[in-house]
Amino acid sequence: MEKDQTPPKPEIAPATGKLGVLTVGLGAVATTFMAGVELIRRGAAPPIGSVTQMGTIRLGKRTEGRSPKIRDFVPLAEPGRLVFGAWDLFPDNAYEAAAKAGVLDLPHLNSVKRYLEGIRPMKAAFQRDYVKRLDGPHVKKAKNKYELAEQLRDDIRSFKRKSKASRLVMIWCASTEIFLKPHKVHQTVESFEKAMKQNHPSIAPSMLYAWAAMREGVPFANGAPNLTVDIPAIEQLAQENGVPIAGKDFKTGQTLMKTIIAPGLKARMIGVNGWFSTNILGNRDGEVLDDPGSFKTKEESKLGSLEYIFQPHLYPDLYNHLYHKVRINYYPPRRDNKEGWDNIDIFGWLGYPMQIKVDFLCRDSILAAPIALDLVLFLDLAKRAGMRGIQEWLSFYFKSPMCAPQLYPEHDLFIQLMKLKNTLRWMMGEELITHLGAEYYD
Ligand SMILES: NC(=O)c1ccc[n+]([C@@H]2O[C@H](COP(=O)([O-])OP(=O)(O)OC[C@H]3O[C@@H](n4cnc5c(N)ncnc54)[C@H](O)[C@@H]3O)[C@@H](O)[C@H]2O)c1
Repeated sequence: MEKDQTPPKPEIAPATGKLGVLTVGLGAVATTFMAGVELIRRGAAPPIGSVTQMGTIRLGKRTEGRSPKIRDFVPLAEPGRLVFGAWDLFPDNAYEAAAKAGVLDLPHLNSVKRYLEGIRPMKAAFQRDYVKRLDGPHVKKAKNKYELAEQLRDDIRSFKRKSKASRLVMIWCASTEIFLKPHKVHQTVESFEKAMKQNHPSIAPSMLYAWAAMREGVPFANGAPNLTVDIPAIEQLAQENGVPIAGKDFKTGQTLMKTIIAPGLKARMIGVNGWFSTNILGNRDGEVLDDPGSFKTKEESKLGSLEYIFQPHLYPDLYNHLYHKVRINYYPPRRDNKEGWDNIDIFGWLGYPMQIKVDFLCRDSILAAPIALDLVLFLDLAKRAGMRGIQEWLSFYFKSPMCAPQLYPEHDLFIQLMKLKNTLRWMMGEELITHLGAEYYD
């Protein structure tokens, strides 16, 4: 292939019928997502925060004035055609789970009560060793992890049959598991499946869902920082079975702010020698992250972004001495309404120091729900377009974007957005936009 030759535009199958969405976990993010989709379907709320629903895309030259909405440009499933299923280790239906999560106000929630009550979780594949602060009664039993995963495959098929969905997507909205390092059993499909049968400790429950999804040809997005689909065995299955995968860890709150501010500082060659981030958070996610094992997984995911954005090896004078610290503190009174503080120590001309303080009073699940919607719709589109394996163009949505082993992940939100939009242009046979713009001055 020549150096700058783009691959041919893919054929995209139409989005006919219903799109089944299987969420692993029926907690704050999943129920806020589901309630929101139902309110949007009824025209009771606008889809704020969703790039697929509200975003536009410029096509052709700036003088052409063509900027359709993304949803009118690419053949996405309509949110109104989504049907939901879920797994959780608590038997609460989506209404009860949402009421406990406390993200949405009761009047809001009650307006979709009947709809949410109809979404009842299937039994979870769960083991306490991987999420120490959780224990629930609604769990599957099996001789080994392979059998557990086979039960998940049965669930997928029966959900598809009962919901009459023509296509499915799975999204991990469950708790953060303990930190696991890539292990040699993750290397190939064969070693992975053997390890499942031997109950190997390096096979976490989230990997069983991922494996079941790959075997059933269901695209998978990972909203948490666990390895899950980010291992060679699952990537191999995704390639072989023609399944798109994306991850990991929804980019909301503090990391979203980081990947907005840091590229700006770097663009102006402003130095940074300290970035201290701390959070208080009182929801179940915060409780799970209070365990050092789960926090370690999250910490790794949160720490990576600055290193990649600042590229200290290219700008040693500006970023070689950056001290980056991240803290998450479980503080129940705040529930889902997190507060995140950033103190950024920067320096400018002649090395003079300055400081930036950010105090972000955010709502975690309110920021995560539209990401879940976009990921589900884009992964379904990718599948219909015959795209398989890691979907790097969806890095825009993740704190720790997955990418090919020979690459470094792209964290800069604006490069990520450009990549996402150029991928959509390519899919639809439109010219890619380079922002060169020289032709306007010829
Ligand atoms: N809200 C955000 O802004 C945000 C951002 C990035 C990542 N995340 C991640 O998204 C995930 C969900 O967050 P949340 O606030 O909804 O948490 P939550 O605790 O409210 O919900 C998670 C649910 O998953 C269930 N669960 C745990 N392990 C399971 C398993 N093996 N199978 C099935 N269900 C299981 C739990 O019982 C719980 O109901 C967390 O991992 C969190 O770290 C959230």
